[in-house]
Amino acid sequence: MELQFSRHRRLRSSASMRALVRENHLSADDFIYPLFIYEGENIRKEVSSMPGVFQVSLDHLEAEMEDIAAHGIKAVLLFGIPETKDECGGQAYHDHGIVQEATRFIKKYFPDILVVADTCLCEYTSHGHCGMVKGDKILNDESLDLLVKTAVSQAKAGADIIAPSNMMDGFVAAIRAGLDEAGFKEIPIMSYAVKYASSFYGPFREAAEGAPQFGDRKTYQMDPANRLEAFREAESDVAEGADFLIVKPGMPYLDIVRDIKNNFNLPVVVYNVSGEYSMIKAAAQNGWIDEKSTVLEMLTGMKRAGADLIITYHAKDAIRWLKEDQ
Ligand code: PBG
Repeated sequence: MELQFSRHRRLRSSASMRALVRENHLSADDFIYPLFIYEGENIRKEVSSMPGVFQVSLDHLEAEMEDIAAHGIKAVLLFGIPETKDECGGQAYHDHGIVQEATRFIKKYFPDILVVADTCLCEYTSHGHCGMVKGDKILNDESLDLLVKTAVSQAKAGADIIAPSNMMDGFVAAIRAGLDEAGFKEIPIMSYAVKYASSFYGPFREAAEGAPQFGDRKTYQMDPANRLEAFREAESDVAEGADFLIVKPGMPYLDIVRDIKNNFNLPVVVYNVSGEYSMIKAAAQNGWIDEKSTVLEMLTGMKRAGADLIITYHAKDAIRWLKEDQ
C-alpha cells in the first residue's frame, strides 16, 4: 500500500536548499545599539550584570563610535547617567546635559549614524521614577511638561529620533506638539507604546543607575498578563502621532509583537532588554548554551514574530557572527 504524507524534509536537504527557502533574515540594518553615556571623565566601566556592555564618558565616546561604525551599525539609542540627580530630573532637559552633549558629538563626527534619544526622567530623578512624584504618587500631567522639555532639548542637540519610554498617558501627543512648536516637525517619535512592568529590566537599572528608590513602576508600565491593553496603548499612540511602535521586552512578549505587526501599519521595534541579554551571557559563560547560535536564533525569532527593528545589546556580536557566516 502506498502511504500518503508530505515530504517536508525535501526543502531541508542541504545548507543551500535551506538558504533558498529561508523566510527571515538578519542584517546590520535591523539593529539599534543602546549606549550608556556617563557624565565625568575617563570612565569606561563594564556593567557587571551585562558583560560586554560599558558605561562610557564623553572622552571615550569617539573610540566607542569608531567601533560601532566599523560594525556597520546605523543607529544608537542614548541613555545618560548624570553627575547629579534631583526631584525633577533637571539634567534630562539641560541643554548641556550628558545626552545632549553626546548627541552633539556624534552628529558632528559620525553624521551618518542615527541618534535615537531615550526620553525619560528616571536616570535623572533622585527618586528614580519616570515622572514627577508627590508623596507616593507618580504624577501624570505634571510630568508631561518636563518630558516635552527633554525631547525638545534632545532635538535641539541634533537627535534624529525621539524615543519616549516613560509611559505617562499622553506623552506622544504632548511631545509631538512640543516638537512641532519648537520647529522640529520632521523629527519622528519612536514610542515605547507597549512597555510592560518587567523584571527583565533588572540589569539595565544597574547600567543606567535608575532604579526606583521606592515602590515600583506598576502604576504606569503595563501588567504582563494583559494583551488587549497593548492594543489600546498602540491605538492611542498612533492617534497621537507616533511614527514607530516599540514593544518591550522582547522574548516573553513575541505574541504581542505579532499582534502589533498585524494590526498597525507602522514599523514595529522590539526591545530585546537587559535581562534577556544577561541570561544568555550567563548561560554562555557557564558553557550551558552556545552563545552565537542562541543569540542568532533569538533575534531571528524576533524578526519572524514581526519585528522590523531590534534594539539589542547583542548588535555588535550578531553583526560579527553574520559576517563570519557569509
Ligand atoms: C527607562 C528605561 C528602562 C529601560 C529602557 N528605558 C528601565 C525601566 O523602565 O525600568 C529598560 C531597558 C533594558 O532593560 O534593557 N524608563
